[in-house]
Amino acid sequence: MAEKITLSAIKADVGGFVGHSSMHPALMEKATESLESVKNQGLIIDFCVTHCGDDLELIMTHEKGTESGEIHKLAWDIFVECTEVAKELKLYGAGQDLLSDAFSGNIKGMGPGCAEMEILERKSEPIIIFMADKTSPGAWNYPLYKIFADPFNTAGLVIDPSMHEGFIFEVLDVFQNREISFKCPEELYDLLILIGATEHYIIKNIYRKTDNEIAATSSTQKLNLLAGKYVGKDDPVMIIRCQSGFPALGEVIEPFSFPHMVAGWMRGSHHGPIMPVSFEDAHPSRFDGPPRVIAAAFQLSNGRLIGPQDLFCDPSFDNSRKMALDAADYLRRHGPFEPHRLPLDEMEYTTFPAVMEKLKERFKKLN
Ligand code: F6R
Ligand code: MG
Ligand code: MG
Repeated sequence: MAEKITLSAIKADVGGFVGHSSMHPALMEKATESLESVKNQGLIIDFCVTHCGDDLELIMTHEKGTESGEIHKLAWDIFVECTEVAKELKLYGAGQDLLSDAFSGNIKGMGPGCAEMEILERKSEPIIIFMADKTSPGAWNYPLYKIFADPFNTAGLVIDPSMHEGFIFEVLDVFQNREISFKCPEELYDLLILIGATEHYIIKNIYRKTDNEIAATSSTQKLNLLAGKYVGKDDPVMIIRCQSGFPALGEVIEPFSFPHMVAGWMRGSHHGPIMPVSFEDAHPSRFDGPPRVIAAAFQLSNGRLIGPQDLFCDPSFDNSRKMALDAADYLRRHGPFEPHRLPLDEMEYTTFPAVMEKLKERFKKLN
């Protein structure tokens, strides 16, 4: 009987080059060297190391299932080793996403982001891994809705009998650490009232309704309250299966032709358009942005990762990039004003409590 394959995409920012903009090749080399040796020992089947901006992305296939302590420890140890390299080169923010001193069984909640799915590989298994920088997992709500629920995006919802029943959306309430599932299309409006609030209700998994097969998963997780601040919400990844009863590859990337507005950008405190870019252009610069997304596509072959294809390295996304840059110009002119700047309680950096403390005696109560 065929074994189930697990796909794990685990990422962390362990040091930027230069500033928070991109990745030094030495980190990618270190990660590749370590994964190569683990692959030779047989713990993983295959891997691909890449980066989006300052985030190191480890894409791995194995047979250990999701949330495997062995695989999570492997990723953690590689991030620690790469942090050593980053420290030696004095790269910026070395080890910034490793929030704990020691690994404690599961990488979730320790800083790195993690998207995983366990599947029985089909006769042909096309998958896309999306990776973004300078934004949060809520950035996936809009494209996931378009891909799996909007017939104006996904023709298959209307004309492919194997998708016509729709999909089930599993949504995480990141503040209260609880989840809820919606059957779509019948519960679309209930779904939208929640997931339109992209920093609060975030899509975690999507399943095909007819057989409960996993279709998509994201690195969404509950937010950790550390030293009075919510942390670990940054720079998400997601995995989507394509074709034969799932949305076609072209339906999966179509939503990114509209560079929708996401939270993140400079100091994690601004709204900006998410720009689809080639691997080569995945280095946010202007005002530390605008936020970027890359799409790495693979065919799985008994767990081997055949690829990646760089899907946004394509002139058909040129207009989307132009639209993103126009939106970036427009938003930037607002400077410190909302809606460019995030609401007071959503900014990652803030002076608000300190300023209010300083001013508290100067507020005069009005009748
Ligand atoms: C946003 C981001 C950057 C930094 C900014 C300040 O996610 O990574 O915009 O927030 O460059 O960085 P520090 O405070 O580390 O100098
Ligand atoms: Mg960084
Ligand atoms: Mg980053």
